[in-house]
Formats: sequence, C-alpha cells, structure tokens
Amino acid sequence: MKSLFTILLIAFCMTLISCSDKRERNYQYFPDMYESIPYDTYGAYDIFQDGQQAKKPGEGTISRGFTPYEYDDDSEGYALAKAELKNEVPYTEEHLAKGKELYTIYCATCHGDNGKGKGYLVEREKILGVPSYDDQGRAITEGSVYHVMWHGINTMGSYASQMDNKELWLVDHYVMKLKAELEGKAPRELELESEFKK
Ligand code: HEC
Repeated sequence: MKSLFTILLIAFCMTLISCSDKRERNYQYFPDMYESIPYDTYGAYDIFQDGQQAKKPGEGTISRGFTPYEYDDDSEGYALAKAELKNEVPYTEEHLAKGKELYTIYCATCHGDNGKGKGYLVEREKILGVPSYDDQGRAITEGSVYHVMWHGINTMGSYASQMDNKELWLVDHYVMKLKAELEGKAPRELELESEFKK
C-alpha cells in the first residue's frame, strides 16, 4: 500500500513538472511585489482628469533657483526697467572682483575690457555697432543693463541662461563701474559685506 502511494505521488509530481513550460512565466508568488498597486509614473488611467498620472505643474510654478523677470522684452519694458529696477546686491570689493571675472568671460570680447565697445570681435570687424558704456544717447542705468542682459538687445544675445540672477547683478555692478570710469566720475563708495549680514 505504501509503495503504491509513493508511485502515485511521483506520478502526480511528474505530471505537474512535465506540463510546465520553462520559457513561460510560471506561478507568481506574492504578485504585489511585481504588479504595483500605486499608479505608475506617466501611466494612463481614466480616473485622472486628463487620463494621465503625471500632472502638469500648477500655474505660476517656477523651477528651483529660477528668478522670474517681470519686465517685457519691448520698449515699454525696457523703459520701466531702466527707470525703476535697482541692483540690490551689495557693492563690495569681492562682488566687483567676481563681476569683473564674469564680464571678462561674457562681455569683453565685444565691449572691451574698459567698456568702450572696442573688444576683440569689434577690432576684427566680426560685429558692428557695439556702443561705449558712456554713450550719452543710451544713458544706461543698472536697471537697463540688467534688462539687456536678460532679454538681449538687437545683435546682442541674452545671458539669462548662462548666468544666474546674482551673477547678472555682479556683472551689472562692474558695467556701472566701467561707465563711471569712462565718464571720469569718482568711483562709487564700496560697501562692507558685514553691514548686510545680520
Ligand atoms: C557678441 C557681442 C556682444 C557681447 C558678447 C555682449 N554685447 Fe552688449 N551689446 C552688443 C551690441 C552689438 C550692442 C548694441 C545693440 C543695439 O542696441 O543695437 C550691445 C549693447 C549693450 C548695452 C547697451 C544697451 C542699451 O541699453 O542701449 C549694454 C549695457 C550691454 N550691451 C551690456 C553687455 C553685457 C553686460 C554683456 C555681457 C554679459 C554684453 N553686453 C555682451 C554686443 C555684445
């Protein structure tokens, strides 16, 4: 009797094994581990308004570290920025040095080291119409300088994607320093960083 039982058991197991196809996926133990209960990222589900798991960012969302700029790229925006936009970054020696460094990288090729508009590319006639920073007709201000760096102006491109907000303001300080030098004005008094650290 015992041996008959053993034979039957073996036969039963063999039937089970012989029917399985090794190339096919077999039983899934704990299917929760393979088939996720939460919604898949970017999955399509009717339950969502637009049928998509991924939602668009809320209106007015900005990416981390990005500072929005409210002045439009037109003559009105230019005039407003020129009149009211102020450089809030402290005017310190360290900031000026950093501003000079960035200016030399991004601006000097056209505007020249001294801001007279006679940079390397101008001397080689690769670009025309680069003004001097003391150009009376333009009468640039810290607001207008920021505005043209942000939006660009005619043949000059925008620098908004190459420098962050603070870096743009550092270059701005340096441009205003060059302007004052070209106009023969007394240099602006330096601020001490410590005054601003609380
Ligand atoms: C490829 C050459 C080039 C580079 C590089 C360049 N500029 Fe200019 N920039 C110009 C030209 C050309 C103009 C004149 C545009 C016009 O009004 O037609 C100009 C104009 C300006 C003006 C006067 C705008 C006004 O209000 O009328 C400022 C200020 C200025 N640039 C600042 C900068 C600063 C700061 C940088 C570096 C971040 C820079 N530029 C980089 C070519 C350049």
